[in-house]
Amino acid sequence: MNLMKKMLAVPAAVLALWAVTAQATTDEAIAERLKPVGEVCIMGEECKGVETVAAAASGGARSADDIIAKHCNACHGSGVLGAPKIGDTAAWKDRADHQGGLDGILAKAISGINAMPPKGTCADCSEDELREAIKKMSGL
Ligand code: HEC
Repeated sequence: MNLMKKMLAVPAAVLALWAVTAQATTDEAIAERLKPVGEVCIMGEECKGVETVAAAASGGARSADDIIAKHCNACHGSGVLGAPKIGDTAAWKDRADHQGGLDGILAKAISGINAMPPKGTCADCSEDELREAIKKMSGL
């Protein structure tokens, strides 16, 4: 009889262990499912995603990539109408060297030059945003 009890006790222990592990994973899965869609951000701590939300809400502070993709790439991506191509640093540098550096070509980008429309069609771009876009496209 004693032996019989022992024989039963081992599988019972295994079963109990299995039940605990199974419970643990289920709890995790439930916690994952119950997680709020938006995470709470605490002041002073890094909070991913908040910048983009804030930028979208205020309409400002877009990334240089966003501006380039939306406004500049159409011409500067392939060099339409003689536009210096994205990544062709030599072409951009040549222009900058002849027009007072980055600030010089930024001024031209704002006013427009030949086939380059004022602000490169990004009418609501700030000077800083245009500067970042030019830096990114030119590598200067
Ligand atoms: C409709 C086409 C077009 C779009 C859109 C466009 N560009 Fe241009 N861009 C040009 C062309 C063409 C030139 C060359 C003009 C020339 O020198 O004749 C140019 C030149 C430039 C230059 C050099 C200016 C100089 O002084 O040599 C800068 C800087 C520039 N673009 C920035 C931008 C930025 C930033 C954007 C997006 C916000 C943009 N461009 C969008 C066509 C475009």
